[in-house]
Amino acid sequence: MDIKKKINRKISVAPMMDCTDRHDRYFLRLISKNVMLYTEMVVTKAVLRGDKQKLLKFNELEKPLALQVGGSDKKELAEVAKIAEDFGYDEININLGCPSKKVQKNSFGACLMKEPDLVSECLSEMKKSCNIPVTAKTRIGFDHTEEFDYLNMFVNKMKQTGCKTIILHARKAILKGLTPKQNLNIPKLNYGMVYEIKKFNPDLEIIINGGITTTDQIKNHLNYCDGVMIGRAIYQNPYFLKDIENTIFNNLNVPSREDIVKQILEYLEKELKTGTRVNQVMRHTVGLYYGQPGSKEWKKYLSDNMMARDSDFQKAKHIMDIAQNNEKVNQLTA
Ligand SMILES: Cc1cc2nc3c(=O)[nH]c(=O)nc-3n(C[C@H](O)[C@H](O)[C@H](O)COP(=O)(O)O)c2cc1C
Repeated sequence: MDIKKKINRKISVAPMMDCTDRHDRYFLRLISKNVMLYTEMVVTKAVLRGDKQKLLKFNELEKPLALQVGGSDKKELAEVAKIAEDFGYDEININLGCPSKKVQKNSFGACLMKEPDLVSECLSEMKKSCNIPVTAKTRIGFDHTEEFDYLNMFVNKMKQTGCKTIILHARKAILKGLTPKQNLNIPKLNYGMVYEIKKFNPDLEIIINGGITTTDQIKNHLNYCDGVMIGRAIYQNPYFLKDIENTIFNNLNVPSREDIVKQILEYLEKELKTGTRVNQVMRHTVGLYYGQPGSKEWKKYLSDNMMARDSDFQKAKHIMDIAQNNEKVNQLTA
């Protein structure tokens, strides 16, 4: 499985633990052909010691797809980069932004911002071991360090390894005292710092991330950066990708929500035969009708039925009824 897909990082969906698994990515790809997708963070040791197929397999339709990895052992990271390439991933990305306690205890994620030399060695080894792009996702600072000079030095260390793409979450990480969730909201967004990094490093592809929720905001950021990465706004409202396709990629051929439901149910039917459970796929679709008439009914139907363990396709038929009805109501209210 080595179909190379052209990477376009103008818009990407952020890596999100417990969210952007292979089922979610398949679902998102039904709506958007043009965005870049990332896996959840996978820890190097898990890949090297665990069930690689289970952890890394994906559907060709998800491509272009990047594997995000967490680790700080350069040998392990290099091995995983090679494995990612062999699996057919289009990019390997190192997580330098996660502030969780568990991740810090294992000395990776955001705390690596304190160790630019180690990061540089890790990226160099990864680069040597594979032929796919090696990229990094980090924050603009940590704890009391939120200075352009520090970030620019860090970015330049990464640049010297041949890393050409850096994703910057435009808020610092507080390594002690905040939960990971607070760390996504409390530190103030500072987009200006990301724009400055791009200005000083025009040869780098700089992707901006954090708090972006509308196509107007996306368009504005694209005046200063090469790409925009969006996390929560897409997970909460996956059909936001339709606006993105229409407005940013000029693609007016996005399937209706009803078509998406049809296609995800076909996927579900196939997946159930291989042991996947209904809720593993359908939980990602809870937000499909976000802000629409019928959203409540959709959510209620899913929460009442998606724990079904078997392939009860009668239920899927009911789901189609809701989707068709919602489509009619939407057309009437459009
Ligand atoms: C539930 C959740 C899980 C996340 N998991 C990861 C992860 O595995 N790797 C990572 O680099 N960032 C992770 N993040 C951070 C996002 O990638 C992104 O940087 C952050 O949510 C800010 O973007 P947003 O405001 O568009 O959501 C996670 C965020 C959320 C909400």
